[in-house]
Amino acid sequence: MLILNKTAGVFSKPSKRNMYEFLRSFHFHPGKRFLHKLVLGIETSCDDTAAAVVDETGNVLGEAIHSQTEVHLKTGGIIPPVAQQLHRENIQRIVQEALSASKVSPSELSAIATTIKPGLALSLGVGLSFSLQLVDQLKKPFIPIHHMEAHALTIRLTNKVEFPFLVLLISGGHCLLALVRGVSDFLLLGKSLDIAPGDMLDKVARRLSLIKHPECSTMSGGKAIEHLAKQGNRLHFDFKPPMQHAKNCDFSFSGLRHIIDKMIMQKEKEEGIEKGQILSSAADIAAAVQHTVACHIAKRTHRAILFCKQRDLFCQSNAVLVVSGGVASNLHIRKALEIVTDATQCTLLCPPPRLCTDNGVMIAWNGVERLRAGLGILHSTEGIRYEPKCPLGADISKEVGEAAVKVPRLKMKI
Ligand code: KG4
Ligand code: ZN
Repeated sequence: MLILNKTAGVFSKPSKRNMYEFLRSFHFHPGKRFLHKLVLGIETSCDDTAAAVVDETGNVLGEAIHSQTEVHLKTGGIIPPVAQQLHRENIQRIVQEALSASKVSPSELSAIATTIKPGLALSLGVGLSFSLQLVDQLKKPFIPIHHMEAHALTIRLTNKVEFPFLVLLISGGHCLLALVRGVSDFLLLGKSLDIAPGDMLDKVARRLSLIKHPECSTMSGGKAIEHLAKQGNRLHFDFKPPMQHAKNCDFSFSGLRHIIDKMIMQKEKEEGIEKGQILSSAADIAAAVQHTVACHIAKRTHRAILFCKQRDLFCQSNAVLVVSGGVASNLHIRKALEIVTDATQCTLLCPPPRLCTDNGVMIAWNGVERLRAGLGILHSTEGIRYEPKCPLGADISKEVGEAAVKVPRLKMKI
C-alpha cells in the first residue's frame, strides 16, 4: 500500500498521442526472446534524467542518462522549475535510448519501476507522469521506488551481499546510516540534522570561488575540494568535527559551514582580497575541510558499527558496511572509513562510481529485487502520488542515541 503524506503531489500526464507515437517508434518482436524477467527503471528525483533495462539476474541490458549538473553549476544550485523543464525535454529520449541499447521492445518488459519518493516535487512529477502513461499503454505492472532504498540495494547488483548490512549514503542531498535487513526492511540509525555533506562541500567550494580556478572550473564542489586538498596542508587550519559530545549516529554540517565561512572572510581581510577572488590559502582550507568532514563521517559510522555489533544486528560471520552516494567517491573520506572498518573487522564495499551517483540502473535493479520478492508490484496505479518527503525505514535513531555507545579514538593518519 502506498502511504501518502501531506506533501504528496498530483502530476499532469503527457498527451496520449505522444506516448502512442513514442511506442510505435520501437520495433516489436513477436513472442518471447528473453529467458529472464526484464525491468525498465526510470529516475527523475533530482537533476538527472536516467533510465535502464536490467534483467532478473542483474545484467544491465541498456542504460542512458542526461545530467543537468552543468546547467545547475552555472546558476549556483538547482532551480526546481529549470530541473523540471530539462526532465521534460529529455525523458522520452533517455527512455528510448535505454530501450534501444537493450534491444528490448517495450512489450517485452515485465514491469516498469520509477522513483516516486523522496525528491524534488517538480522533478518526481515528470518521471511519474511519463511512467504512468507508459504503464497504461503497455498494460504492465508498475513498481514505485524509494530513491534511498534503491541507492542502498545497488551493491547487491555488483557484489554478493546478503542481508543484513549497514549502509552509509552520503551525497549532495542525502546523509544517513541505515541497517538494511531486507528488500523493504530498513532501520534508520542516524541522519543529517541539517544539510548533506555534498551540499556543504558545494557551498564551501562556491564561497571559495573554485569555479574560477583553472583546474576546477568543470568540477562539482566536492570534487574541486578533493582536487585542491591534494595541494594543501590541512594542519594550517583547525576545524573541529561537529557533534563531538552527542553520542548518537546523527550528522550535522551547517555549523561547520558557518565556521568555515567566517574563516574565509577573515582570510580575505588578511590577504586584502575581495569576495569572489581566490585565496592563496584555498588549498589549505580545502584540505582541512575535507579532513574534518571525513573525521565526522567516520566517527558516526564507527558508532553505528559498534551499536549493530552490541545488539547482534549484523550477520554472525561477516559484518558489511556499504558506502554510496556522490561523496563516497572521495578517496580521503573512503580512507577514513577504511580505518574504521579495519579497526572493527568489517568489510567495506562501495558500488562503482557510476552506480554511486543517481542512475537508472539502481531503480531498475530495485524493481527486480521487488519483483523477485513479490513486494510492492501494482497492477492498478489509481491514486498513486509522488512524495517529496519520505523517511527511510523505521527510525531507531533515538534508541541509538540512548545507547550512547562510546567510540574509541582512532588515529586518522591519512
Ligand atoms: O549522488 P550525487 O551525484 O547526487 C546527489 O546529491 O544525489 O552526489 C553529488 C554530490 C555533490 O554535492 C558533489 O559535490 C559531491 O557529491 N561529490 C563529491 C565528490 N564528487 C562528487 N564530494 C566529495 N568528493 C568528491 N570527489
Ligand atoms: Zn541520490
